[in-house]
Amino acid sequence: MIDQVAPAPTLRIAGRGDGPRMLRIITEAFCARPALDPPADALGDTLADIEGYLSDQIGIIASDDAGDIGCLFLALDAQASPPTAMLSRVSVLPSQRQHGIATQLVQAAAGLAQEAGMRRLQLVARRELPSVIRWWLSHGFEIVAELDAQRVLIAVDLPASVRVPSAAAMRELGARLTKLLRPGDLIIASGELGSGKTTLAQGLGAGLRVTGPITSPTFVLSRIHPARDGGVQLVHVDAYRLGSAAELDDLDLDASLADSVTFVEWGTGLADQLASDRLEIHIDRSGDPDDETRIVRLGGIGPRWAGADLWGFVEQFDGRWEQ
Ligand SMILES: Nc1ncnc2c1ncn2[C@@H]1O[C@H](COP(=O)(O)OP(=O)(O)OP(=O)(O)O)[C@@H](O)[C@H]1O
Ligand SMILES: [Mg+2]
Repeated sequence: MIDQVAPAPTLRIAGRGDGPRMLRIITEAFCARPALDPPADALGDTLADIEGYLSDQIGIIASDDAGDIGCLFLALDAQASPPTAMLSRVSVLPSQRQHGIATQLVQAAAGLAQEAGMRRLQLVARRELPSVIRWWLSHGFEIVAELDAQRVLIAVDLPASVRVPSAAAMRELGARLTKLLRPGDLIIASGELGSGKTTLAQGLGAGLRVTGPITSPTFVLSRIHPARDGGVQLVHVDAYRLGSAAELDDLDLDASLADSVTFVEWGTGLADQLASDRLEIHIDRSGDPDDETRIVRLGGIGPRWAGADLWGFVEQFDGRWEQ
């Protein structure tokens, strides 16, 4: 992530009365950009326009002690194929840039879009602002279409999510996931302690038919599990307890990457530094302490995963676990 670490802003969904403050943030943010010809649509917004967006889109506002500092709009289109959410007016006050506020606004929007069943998040950007386009590309978005001389369509596939009711189901998910995998694949699994990363790795090991057992490597950070029948080996890395990306470099994973499936358990963050092609898996608990269900999100990053049908993959489960 390119942004500096700063105290997290408070994010909230905008209400009817938030039009004037959103207009102020948007106008201030877009006025601070280089002048464009034709000017950015945002600079033509009136209060009536903003109130119109608020009536059929979701507004998100970021604030800190100093007041409101950023906002965006999110429009959901469930009829599109695939269902798509459109971002617009992504605005951060000029004095508050470089603090990761836009990142947090966009992550919140992505989470809401995903909960609403959207599979894709997109926006229109101006070609004349390469630094803005680079910002989106560094956040996992890609240019997917040239709309006209000035505008490009930028999009990201939202991670596919599946509810996994038990540890056995988590192993089944891992085992079936191996059908999508090939040598050279890197999987980064994140999620808090005990969320089920190692349990998922056990399923991968079963699917690849590697020698086990796959356990939490407390003292060993990386373990190679050769395949029993000449198949692909599994390299299981527990990077959760590593202090830095430099320590990860010391494990010299590159040496085995090409002919293995490499599964790295990781705390959230830092993973972007590892490789441009990777399958990111994030595991969350359901929120109810009496419920063992985990919510697993799978997102493919980079050309290797561009055409992968991860949504199709998770749909096969849809409450139909073998156990
Ligand atoms: N739905 C579920 N999915 C995965 N594990 C579950 C589930 N329900 C219960 N469990 C239990 O939760 C625990 C998950 O532990 P696991 O070692 O897989 O987590 P982890 O994310 O690897 O933890 P760590 O961060 O310590 O490495 C296991 O004891 C598993 O049996
Ligand atoms: Mg583990």
